[in-house]
Amino acid sequence: MKFSLNHLYALVALGIAVCSMDAARADEAHAVKLYNTYCVQCHGVNRDGNGINSANMAVKPRDHTDTKAMGDTPDETLFKAIKGGGLAVSKSVLMPKWEGVLNDDEIKELVAYLRVVSKTTAK
Ligand code: HEC
Repeated sequence: MKFSLNHLYALVALGIAVCSMDAARADEAHAVKLYNTYCVQCHGVNRDGNGINSANMAVKPRDHTDTKAMGDTPDETLFKAIKGGGLAVSKSVLMPKWEGVLNDDEIKELVAYLRVVSKTTAK
């Protein structure tokens, strides 16, 4: 078989596709770690807002599996809420701000992960 330029292009395209899939998977694995470290005590191991702290909270943590409510919330709002806390989006101060703990890339990873958890798409 003659190895044509088209074969080469196809291989390069495949390589890029595989690498970006790996990168997306790595980001998600990192986001899971972050969530399990910083968010789980309120938002819960099932991501449904029933974390160990939630029983004593006046405002319930957001249910991140709620497809309707999460689907109605733009990425920008999720990002702002995580970075600046509930107050940054006119919500409860019981949602802490993570600026200074998480960098913008990590917050973006968490927003992408919340889309997976809530079975919604970026908007
Ligand atoms: C101390 C408890 C607590 C922790 C820890 C916490 N949250 Fe929250 N979170 C809340 C509460 C309470 C709300 C609901 C605020 C409201 O509805 O007024 C909330 C709401 C949210 C919302 C919805 C914001 C909106 O505009 O609807 C997002 C997104 C969110 N949290 C993400 C996270 C992420 C990601 C982490 C971890 C980095 C985290 N939270 C950690 C308590 C917490």
